[in-house]
Amino acid sequence: MSREQCLRYEWHGGVMRLFIAIELPDDAKKALGRLQTDVPGARWVPAGQMHVTLSFLGEVDETGVERLVGQLVHIHLPEFQLCFGGTGCFPDRRRPRVLWVGLEPHPQLNVLASRVREAVLASGILQEERTFSPHITLARIKQAASGVCDTFLDRYKKPGFPSLHVREFTLFQSRLTPQGAVHIPVRSFPLVL
Ligand code: 2AM
Repeated sequence: MSREQCLRYEWHGGVMRLFIAIELPDDAKKALGRLQTDVPGARWVPAGQMHVTLSFLGEVDETGVERLVGQLVHIHLPEFQLCFGGTGCFPDRRRPRVLWVGLEPHPQLNVLASRVREAVLASGILQEERTFSPHITLARIKQAASGVCDTFLDRYKKPGFPSLHVREFTLFQSRLTPQGAVHIPVRSFPLVL
């Protein structure tokens, strides 16, 4: 990415807050948005922002972004089909903090996440040691009380959405605003047909 391209995105003190994710098609976002019913204390993710996070990078400076893009362009993996799974919460039902829809295990998804992680590390950006647990966050819950998500989780055990064809992955900027995070696509990286 050239300096001019980078400058279209907002730098804050010379850094951008970044993550890498699989963008969802609009129909999937709409379907997921319809799950957002009444859960006490839930802050629902705007449907238009839902995504499958592959890697959270935090703040990266301009040189870091250039190195990162230089690594990500070398990921050449085939396109694949993903199926949605059931709902769940992190860390568990007794202390639900994040309410999500899972994805059925798919070897290509794990390979993509590993290759992205390797690319991030190779560009000198630190990554948390965390097992990749593919999901789409629906809501975050502050001061979660035990069982607050139980009705939701029992009602939407397996929502059964159409599958999702993954053709690319995207580097996003996450800008923190008083109204919440705004996600701006910085650059997408196509998978191979
Ligand atoms: P998740 O919702 O899929 O868990 C952009 O901020 C995305 O990065 C979030 O949607 C979140 O993905 C993921 N993320 C992981 N660790 C994060 C952190 N420490 N702070 C903010 N976002 C994080």
